[in-house]
Amino acid sequence: MSAQAPSARPNPSSEAPALDAAVRASAHAPSVHGTRPWTVRHVGDRITVGTDPDRRLAVRDPDAREQVVSCGAALFTVLVTLRAHGVRPAVRELPDPDRPGLLAEVRSAGAAEPDARDRMLHESVGPRRTHRGPFPADVDDVRTVRALVSAAAAEGAVLRPLGDERLMRSLAGLVAAAEFLHRCERDTGEELARWVRAPGAADPDGVHAEDFPPPDRVADTLFPDRDYGRGRVRGLLDPHGDVAGTAALLTTSGDGRGDHLAAGRALQRVLLTAAAGGVSSAFHTQPLEEPHLRAFIGERLCDGAHPQMILRLGRGLDARPHRLFASVEDGG
Ligand SMILES: Cc1cc2nc3c(=O)[nH]c(=O)nc-3n(C[C@H](O)[C@H](O)[C@H](O)COP(=O)(O)O)c2cc1C
Repeated sequence: MSAQAPSARPNPSSEAPALDAAVRASAHAPSVHGTRPWTVRHVGDRITVGTDPDRRLAVRDPDAREQVVSCGAALFTVLVTLRAHGVRPAVRELPDPDRPGLLAEVRSAGAAEPDARDRMLHESVGPRRTHRGPFPADVDDVRTVRALVSAAAAEGAVLRPLGDERLMRSLAGLVAAAEFLHRCERDTGEELARWVRAPGAADPDGVHAEDFPPPDRVADTLFPDRDYGRGRVRGLLDPHGDVAGTAALLTTSGDGRGDHLAAGRALQRVLLTAAAGGVSSAFHTQPLEEPHLRAFIGERLCDGAHPQMILRLGRGLDARPHRLFASVEDGG
């Protein structure tokens, strides 16, 4: 299906269930440390997406860049869910200069037949999970990589796969530099501890023991994982495979709040496109939390653009069920 049917006028009462579904689906978006640092609300005829100041990482994300990227991922999830439910969204980003915490307002612009791509992306919202550790296999086909690059471009960002092994090793070294420094910092450790959950915890927030590898598996990989446990909680994830995958940087041309929001939308579009094609994504944003390293990466690896995310992409979908809901449609 390519062309959309002409829009019918908005009809708030018949569209309310779609708006509710979009709010519920947003809870599945990726977020730094699983903080879900947003407020996503259905108010009257619209959905508002804002920041939750109590969930910002004051130590590692003082400027709220990663928070807004996370909110952008939630915003894209709202938009794709509405489209998949036959509602064409009209978005106003940063609608009120006096309320910087209000990131977006989404209303219906009428009904529209969902296209196959929106349905496909929406179906990946629930199954998508963050990968950690090595992958079973590389993403070795050009078409998939091209589709991911186009997904980022559709949201106004650039996905830059690092094809050259030497550049990839250079980036991995910068990840390691930041990660090992962070492991020495008490305030970073305390902030992380607030978001790490013991085995079997029911809390939907945070990074759970089941989602990160044990200490002996986090240190010796090419791209060191964040040490979520820090000696307090033993990770239970047993990564299998032995390839690092394709490293990629997600960048924007500007570096304001609107750019961070766009980066988040692009991130979630890339991740859902990947998941729909059997590709998993791992993240290593530690050096982007260090201003000098972030500037260096922008200058030397991104042609002067602003790096917003560091990813690794590999084949083999993570089969861990999402702990939030059995399915996006079922709700909480
Ligand atoms: C801005 C941002 C930064 C992130 N940085 C990392 C990271 O450095 N290491 C990591 O393992 N996961 C990282 N993640 C992934 C989150 O930890 C993950 O999305 C969250 O725990 C929820 O789990 P899920 O993605 O499996 O639903 C990041 C996610 C976002 C949006």
